[in-house]
Amino acid sequence: MTDLAFQDHDHPEREARAASLDRPADVRPVPRISIQAFCDTPELVAVIEAAAGDRRMARAHVKVHTGGIAAAAEFYQAAATPNLIIVESRLAPDRLDAELDRLADVCDAGTKVVVIGQVNDVELYRGLTHRGVSEYLVAPVDMMGIIKTIADLYVDRTAQPLGRTIAFVGGKGGVGSSMVAHNVAWAIARNFESDVVVADFDLAFGTAALDFNQDPTQGIAEAVNAPERLDDTFLDRLLARCSDHLSLLAAPATLDRTYDFQETTFDQTIDVAQAGVPAVVLDLPHMWTSWVRKMLLAADEIVVTVEPDLANLRNAKNIVDLLRQARTNDSPVRLVVNKSGLTKRPEIKIDDFAAALDLKPIAVIPFDAQLFGTAANNGQMIAEANAKSPIADTFDQIARIVTGRAEPRHQKRGALAAMLARLRGKKSA
Ligand SMILES: Nc1ncnc2c1ncn2[C@@H]1O[C@H](COP(=O)(O)OP(=O)(O)OP(=O)(O)O)[C@@H](O)[C@H]1O
Ligand SMILES: [Mg+2]
Repeated sequence: MTDLAFQDHDHPEREARAASLDRPADVRPVPRISIQAFCDTPELVAVIEAAAGDRRMARAHVKVHTGGIAAAAEFYQAAATPNLIIVESRLAPDRLDAELDRLADVCDAGTKVVVIGQVNDVELYRGLTHRGVSEYLVAPVDMMGIIKTIADLYVDRTAQPLGRTIAFVGGKGGVGSSMVAHNVAWAIARNFESDVVVADFDLAFGTAALDFNQDPTQGIAEAVNAPERLDDTFLDRLLARCSDHLSLLAAPATLDRTYDFQETTFDQTIDVAQAGVPAVVLDLPHMWTSWVRKMLLAADEIVVTVEPDLANLRNAKNIVDLLRQARTNDSPVRLVVNKSGLTKRPEIKIDDFAAALDLKPIAVIPFDAQLFGTAANNGQMIAEANAKSPIADTFDQIARIVTGRAEPRHQKRGALAAMLARLRGKKSA
């Protein structure tokens, strides 16, 4: 049974849980999620601010707003929703429903909602959790109670992992797959203020550190060399911080050893990253090894970047066919055509390419030696080298698609909205 309130003297089992909160050592650290709270009372503002300052919340990004559910619904008309929204409401249960409907309409897929209310009522609690609200707490809540609620939502290892893995691979070497991966990761971090880890699996030659203008001394090699030590704290130490929300697990890019791996070598690294970060970008080298194959088969999203030529077409067809057959219940492979329109180069037409693969590209990126060359030489992303370039918008769009935020804003409906719609349907039936 989940907590309805943290102090409930009518229910001994709940009292037992409340008592355990007196021992904060039991509360696990919260992963790298973004949390926004909309508070209706100054008391809750103080509690959330105190919670944000606790060591268990050091990895999370917390923003506190005032104004309750209505303010939240208004705010997310124009902004992407974070991993977790906490809303406080002093409304009566019937008004609460209507306000939550408005919030549900603007929630992106994957966003969880915790409601803090005034009414201690089991029916209300059940109704809200059935509607897709992750937890309902009765005010007043204390700081450790809030942290524990969040930790319980995200730290449970038996639940769905927090993060989605997004694998990027090229149809041939040098087509720009890594460049697409890095720019998309950067767009996710900047546009959604949501944490991203880029893992560079091209251990010998990977360019992620160069692209992000970093010079890390540790990275992915240390992670695979010490599997017994690999947990979120150790991984933290191996990450190079590139911006507020973007970290890099860099390739050593040295040749003093060779990099022959087993199919399962990277499993734990990916598991640990995925448990602690909402998006993990896997920048894969263009090769066909047991571990590359496994990563592609297991990824939540796959982006295949190609140039519009025959070898890319053949290779992309092989990759797409294999993944289609093996991943019948997953989102389709996302095809990106890069370096299109290179002067004097004969190209396969985009429509013909799409027809041969039975897959429409989600983006076509023109060849632009000046822009990409400048960005690469300066260790910048395309949007940093030229914010006005339409190619920067293309990366924003790919970021929306691979994180499940692709629907236009007026149709933005996440899990909560879908649930509410179903329930509404049942009610009217
Ligand atoms: N649209 C483009 N126009 C011009 N240059 C580009 C474009 N896209 C990528 N490049 C350049 O192509 C080169 C290869 O890019 P990148 O390293 O991302 O490719 P890759 O597919 O990851 O290669 P690898 O097979 O080495 O992993 C880089 O120098 C990059 O700046
Ligand atoms: Mg690459």
